[in-house]
Amino acid sequence: MSKIPETTIDIVRDTADIVDIVSQYVDLKQRGANFFGLCPFHSEKTASFSVAPAKQIYHCFGCNSGGNVFSFIMEYQKISFPEAVKLLADHYNISIELDNNDTESEIFSALYNLHYLAMELYQNNLFSDDGGEALKYLYDRGFTENTLKQFNVGVSRDSWDQLVKHVKGKGFTKHQINQSGLFIHSDKGVFDRFRNRIMFPIFHPSGKPIAFGGRIYNSDDPAKYLNSPETPLYHKSNIFYGLHATRDSIRREESVILVEGYMDFLKLYQSSIPNILAISGTAFTKKHVISLNRISKKVILLYDGDSAGGNAVLKAGWILLQGGLEPLVVRPPEGLDPDDWIDKAGKKNVLNEILSPQPYIYFNIAFNKGKTLQGSDRKQFINNLAREIKNIDDGIVRNDMIRIVSDQLMVEEQDFIRTMKTQRIIKDYINEEEITSNKSLIFTSKVDKAQVELIKLLFCADENIRKYVKSVIKPSLFTIPIIKKIYNLIIDENLSIETSSFIEYFQDRNERDFITKLLFNNDNSNAIEEIVTDCLIILKSEPLKQKISKLRVEIREKESRGQDSSEELSALTELRKELNDL
Ligand code: CTP
Ligand code: MN
Repeated sequence: MSKIPETTIDIVRDTADIVDIVSQYVDLKQRGANFFGLCPFHSEKTASFSVAPAKQIYHCFGCNSGGNVFSFIMEYQKISFPEAVKLLADHYNISIELDNNDTESEIFSALYNLHYLAMELYQNNLFSDDGGEALKYLYDRGFTENTLKQFNVGVSRDSWDQLVKHVKGKGFTKHQINQSGLFIHSDKGVFDRFRNRIMFPIFHPSGKPIAFGGRIYNSDDPAKYLNSPETPLYHKSNIFYGLHATRDSIRREESVILVEGYMDFLKLYQSSIPNILAISGTAFTKKHVISLNRISKKVILLYDGDSAGGNAVLKAGWILLQGGLEPLVVRPPEGLDPDDWIDKAGKKNVLNEILSPQPYIYFNIAFNKGKTLQGSDRKQFINNLAREIKNIDDGIVRNDMIRIVSDQLMVEEQDFIRTMKTQRIIKDYINEEEITSNKSLIFTSKVDKAQVELIKLLFCADENIRKYVKSVIKPSLFTIPIIKKIYNLIIDENLSIETSSFIEYFQDRNERDFITKLLFNNDNSNAIEEIVTDCLIILKSEPLKQKISKLRVEIREKESRGQDSSEELSALTELRKELNDL
């Protein structure tokens, strides 16, 4: 997607200073050659987030996140690579000349402009004579002018072409108009999609409007909300309403309160509950988890107090748990939305409830009346729990769940674990790519560790060591995909490990974290030769050992059939010798 010329990216990277950029967001203190501060990507009390100016990279020793100046901005602002480049270019006054015939970024900026124009128009409507009725509706529901203005709430007129006329003559192409999702097309022409509705702009995390939700306020249109369709700018499955405004508070509070609707969001926000987000009109997905992952681990689900809200909490909770986050639940009284609840009970009482949320698994059991179920219903319920719990990757969390469920439902832990084992792992709604991108790269086996050790040495500050290691290793030793990739970049592409641009070859966040950790590695151990020898022995012996055990099986089989196995026996002797000689 990036049509920013490589040379421009290089200029921006070379100009930007990582300490300068990071210190806008993190309080950094110098210690030796590096700077340290509290990690903005996870909550911590002691500074384990460090920035290495010499290499222009950062790495957190606590949560393992790392990267260069572009990745920092991408992660912190939750924006894409080209957006991060643009933001930094702006900051350093570097002009970006986009490559010619760049229709793609042209359409993006046209779509942003169209949304901006629409937002302005709707907002002006609301605060003009036309908007009186809608404004009164909003005031009656307790929203203040401040809140409405801050979130650019507006109203679309009861007209088929107010927006059509407004954008006419401003240089938009038919294609752009078509792609914006703001208009409808029929044989009779192009018309405004949103008419006579209160308009909530939905913002990109960077703060630009990218879509709208429109609510009825004086009609009995059966569709209470009309929303923008999916467009090149707007992908419902990972956008939160309000993220641009509350991201920093969520980080500060170390938890996020998730509500279903715009109205709930605005009411809580207005009531000085700042760490809030809304999912607005879509089911909670794995993609939402990925967006939340680096901002906050604790997610308080505050959905509507009806059964639909409860069922949505049930689903979202498992997705959060399976994505490595901690779901907690707060329920408004039966039949109330969080918005009504604040109006009825007052923000103090609501806040009190929010401060003591229920861990998700207890909510799940209570909502399903798990303790009173009997017979086949009970069995079915336990099976469902077992299946979902089996899909939780984190062993500690999984074991906690097993303990709680067994205790609450009075099943033997062993029986529950046995039930779990019989459940198929269902990953149908989870996209494989997302799973890998949400899992850290952790290498535990001896062979894996040896590969990591060797590749680490290729990042050693001492060039002589790097040369030595290069001379004794060969590509076939590496079987782990990411390590293979790194090795090829260093050897085949002759990429310099001395620049942080290395990081940009890795799109996947966990790969990036992994590679930054290698780049950060500065220890020049003395026992290099010993380490290399040990690793090589492990890596070379493993395939031999496998061959040996395979041969043993063959020999045993042949002997049991009374066949001659002398050939295999001598091959075995050869292999043993080879192994000894390593
Ligand atoms: N929603 C939608 N389409 C609908 C109903 C709801 O897209 N037909 C989305 C909207 O984003 C809405 C959210 O789901 O904000 C929650 O729905 P609901 O609780 O019904 O709406 P509220 O925003 O709470 O609106 P209100 O309190 O005015 O009824
Ligand atoms: Mn509501």
